[in-house]
Amino acid sequence: MDRILVTGGAGFIGSNFVLYALERWRDAHVVVLDKLTYAGNLENLQGARDNPRFAFIRGDIADEEVVRRAMDGCDVVINFAAETHVDRSILFPKEFVLTDVVGTFTLLEVARELGASKFVQVSTDEVYGSIDEGAFDEIAALEPSSPYSASKAGGDLLTLAYAKTFDAPALVARSTNNYGPYQYPEKLVPLFITNALDDKPLPVYGDGRQVRDWLHVRDNCEALALLLERGEPGVVYNVAGGCELENVDVTKRILKILGKGEDLITYVKDRPAHDRRYALSCERIKALGWNPQTSFDVGLEETVGWYGEHEDWWRPLKGEAFDEYYRRQYGGR
Ligand code: NAD
Ligand code: TYD
Repeated sequence: MDRILVTGGAGFIGSNFVLYALERWRDAHVVVLDKLTYAGNLENLQGARDNPRFAFIRGDIADEEVVRRAMDGCDVVINFAAETHVDRSILFPKEFVLTDVVGTFTLLEVARELGASKFVQVSTDEVYGSIDEGAFDEIAALEPSSPYSASKAGGDLLTLAYAKTFDAPALVARSTNNYGPYQYPEKLVPLFITNALDDKPLPVYGDGRQVRDWLHVRDNCEALALLLERGEPGVVYNVAGGCELENVDVTKRILKILGKGEDLITYVKDRPAHDRRYALSCERIKALGWNPQTSFDVGLEETVGWYGEHEDWWRPLKGEAFDEYYRRQYGGR
């Protein structure tokens, strides 16, 4: 690994990965290409800024010219860049198709032209859709429910088709819900922590009994690094936290850690087409020696502590425009 292109490296998982990669591969250079949408934040990369092995380029993964400039000289590519929030995809689906499908396509094309030796497409359990019992393995059919998961499925399928048609050394990693530092406070865990810190209501959708499987972002970074090193082209790898919980249970745990009352829980209108349960089996990556290291109890406590200590990071992200967005969608909270 000489020079790694990390697209979407200013977002939540991408920025955690950049910091991790600079430590894991002590001789490697890391180039970040990021459009800096509302979800991208250079503050996330503060720990890398002064590292001579780090470079940042602002640009869109759907812009072939800028992609060519960023990828030139890179031997491996990992694509985190995406529109990622299901609720936003219901309001503004077009950006999801442009970035998650056309952007991924553009990266694959340029990687083929420039001869990258590995391409990891970072994806999600949401492409499989909901499952009542058991768990999806990597050959399960894709049944996405939202414009977000449908766009991600499109990017995944293009990646796999490039591996088949053009022998592209490309593979797909599908993980369960991540949590940890630097997650934008629109997603369940950081939204609820930051609301609870301010004694604001926690808006639980529907009956709150939907199940998600939680994976600490550090564990996902380790899985992705392993796949960059040893993942097989044309193969899908599931990455599961092995910690299934109902949303209301996660909510109560956050309140308990913060010593806040459950009266902050507010049940609101459900998300349309809300998937009931996500669950993955991940024998393939386990066969490579990966296992999640962080228990949810420890990881959540640490994450709550991080948001408590980084108000200067999240407060500017929870301005009026953000609240207005939620008011429009869920009628206020
Ligand atoms: P995020 O929303 O925090 O960050 C996305 C990043 O991509 C931002 O920095 C944004 O500026 C950048 N970006 C968006 N559009 C771009 C474009 N057109 N060109 C260049 N950059 C662009 O997302 P995240 O939670 O860090 O997720 C990263 C990846 O992991 C995504 O592909 C997502 O689908 C996948 N994933 C996330 C989770 C999760 O729980 N967060 C779980 C499984 C998979
Ligand atoms: P989210 O963090 O948006 O991730 P995803 O939808 O990609 O799994 O949501 C996690 C779960 O929490 C999901 O079932 C929706 C639910 N949820 C709420 O109940 N209230 C909220 O305000 C948010 C953002 C999510």
